[in-house]
Amino acid sequence: MPINILVNGAFGRMGQMTVKTISEYPGFNLVGQTGRDYDLKKSIHDSKAKVVVDFTTAEAVFQNSQAIIDAGAHPVIGTSGLTQDQTRTLSKQCAALKLGGIIVPNFSIGAVLMMKYAKQIVKHMPHVEIIEMHHETKMDSPSGTALRSAEMLAEAQQTVNQPIKSSRENIPGARGANHHNIPIHAIRLPGLLAHQQIMFGSEGETLTLRHDSMNRECFMPGVCFACEKVMTLDHLVVGLEEIL
Ligand SMILES: NC(=O)c1ccc[n+]([C@@H]2O[C@H](COP(=O)([O-])OP(=O)(O)OC[C@H]3O[C@@H](n4cnc5c(N)ncnc54)[C@H](O)[C@@H]3O)[C@@H](O)[C@H]2O)c1
Repeated sequence: MPINILVNGAFGRMGQMTVKTISEYPGFNLVGQTGRDYDLKKSIHDSKAKVVVDFTTAEAVFQNSQAIIDAGAHPVIGTSGLTQDQTRTLSKQCAALKLGGIIVPNFSIGAVLMMKYAKQIVKHMPHVEIIEMHHETKMDSPSGTALRSAEMLAEAQQTVNQPIKSSRENIPGARGANHHNIPIHAIRLPGLLAHQQIMFGSEGETLTLRHDSMNRECFMPGVCFACEKVMTLDHLVVGLEEIL
């Protein structure tokens, strides 16, 4: 049986690529494309979608995710910007309905591997900062990938960046944003797509993990994998690494 999939945010950059990929992928049936002025819940009911992929905006993603869950479809959320509180709320909603869902800050396999190995490295090199670089039209910062990376690093090493060294910022923000005690520096420039460095330092040496997305196609195998896998889940999962 092919899986009925609806793409929300279908007219944006990621949405368009996802529509193309899903419509060509054996085993998937693209049943809907929705955008800003659509009634998402009604579209899900009308199209009989079983899975909804969301690539919209940080402002809309929580409400969209709730609409998808309320409509009884499996959410595959690629949009960045969900807070930890919002994720907890969605997790409870999925648990109550025994509904599988997945929130994926980064669908690229290389980025997932970067995070996986960063978790090993931080146990030995607990001083770490993140530099993320994106195209100048990316609307939110820091990126979902950078936030998730910081959360994973802090989970893997509780003494990350300890002791805290207080240094005076001559200009506020000079040391970046702070998430779980890890500085995140966000760069926005034309010519970039999506790039991240995780830089570790210890006495006399540094180690840098770097990932570069050259085009949006790199996200598509992960999107397809998540759409298949989400059908087998009965709870909400965060991160592609949790289902690989
Ligand atoms: N998880 C990943 O691997 C990954 C990769 C790339 C981008 N992203 C994220 O995906 C999101 C979309 O990125 P993009 O480059 O396609 O952006 P985009 O601006 O090109 O597209 C967003 C689309 O969402 C639509 N939209 C806005 N509000 C909406 C609503 N309430 N309901 C339905 N549609 C709505 C807009 O009209 C637009 O067409 C961003 O949050 C981005 O950070 C995630």
